[in-house]
Amino acid sequence: MVEVIEDEGAKRSRDSSHLTEWIQAYRPQTLEECALPQRIKEQLQLYIDRRFIPNLIFAGSPGIGKSTCAKVLGNYEGTDCFEVNCANVPSPKEFKQKVDRFVTSASLFGNTPLGKKVIILEESNELSKQTLAYLKKKIEDTQEGCAWILTTNVKGEIPSAILSRCNVVDFNILPDRDDEGEMLDQVSDLIQEYAKRDGCSVDWEDKKVKTNLQKIFKRHFPDIRKIISEVNIRCTPKGYIPIALSEY
Ligand SMILES: Nc1ncnc2c1ncn2[C@@H]1O[C@H](COP(=O)(O)OP(=O)(O)O)[C@@H](O)[C@H]1O
Ligand SMILES: [Mg+2]
Repeated sequence: MVEVIEDEGAKRSRDSSHLTEWIQAYRPQTLEECALPQRIKEQLQLYIDRRFIPNLIFAGSPGIGKSTCAKVLGNYEGTDCFEVNCANVPSPKEFKQKVDRFVTSASLFGNTPLGKKVIILEESNELSKQTLAYLKKKIEDTQEGCAWILTTNVKGEIPSAILSRCNVVDFNILPDRDDEGEMLDQVSDLIQEYAKRDGCSVDWEDKKVKTNLQKIFKRHFPDIRKIISEVNIRCTPKGYIPIALSEY
C-alpha cells in the first residue's frame, strides 16, 4: 500500500477547496445583518422607518461597513440608485456627464421608497477640487429629488461646504462610547453564522481556536473585512485551522 504523504500546505488547500468568499457571498443586505454600534444602526434605521433619507457622508477607516450600509439604503425596496466609484472616474467631464444623466432622468418615474432617489459616491475623497466644487452646487440643485451618500476614508478631505449639506455618520470606533464591545460581539456572531452556512464544524470554545481568533481581532479590529477574510481562510468542513498570522 502506498502511503500518501501530504505537507500541511497541501492538506490545507485540499480542505479549503470548498471555500466560499464570505465578504462577497454573505455581504449584509440589511442593517440587522451588519455589525454596527447601536448609535449607527438607530440613526440609519430611523431614515428607513420615516421613509426619508437626507444627504449623508459615511466616514471611517477601511473595511468597517461604509459601502455595505450605503448599498443597504441605496437598494432599499428597489430604490432608484446610481453608484459611482470616484477612484475610477476617468475625468471630471465624464463624472459630470454620468451624474447629470441620472439626476435629470429617472426622477419622474423612478422608485423612491425612501422619498428620494439615491446617488452613492464611493471614495468621494478621490474627487478633484474642481469636481468637488461642481458637486456642491449639484447637491444643492437636486435636493428635492435626490439623496447623495458619499463614502470616504478621510472626512478631512471633504470641503466644509459639502459637509454642511450632509449628515455625517462617523463609522470610526468612538472611545467614549461602547462601540468596540458592541461590534466585537456582533462580528463574532457573524463569523459563526457564516461558518455554519458553509458546513464548517468549528469548536469555538477550543483553546487554540479562541487564542487564534483573539489574535486576529486584536491585529485587525476595526477592519471587519480583514477579520472576516482571515477567519474565512481558516474555516474548513473539518474544523478551524489556527494558522499563525502573517507579519504585515
Ligand atoms: N460593519 C460590518 N458588518 C458586517 N460586515 C462587514 C462590516 N464591515 C465590513 N464588512 C464586510 O467587509 C466587506 C467590505 O465592507 P465595506 O462595506 O465595503 O467596507 P468599507 O466601505 O467601510 O471599506 C463587506 O462585504 C462585508 O462582508
Ligand atoms: Mg467602501
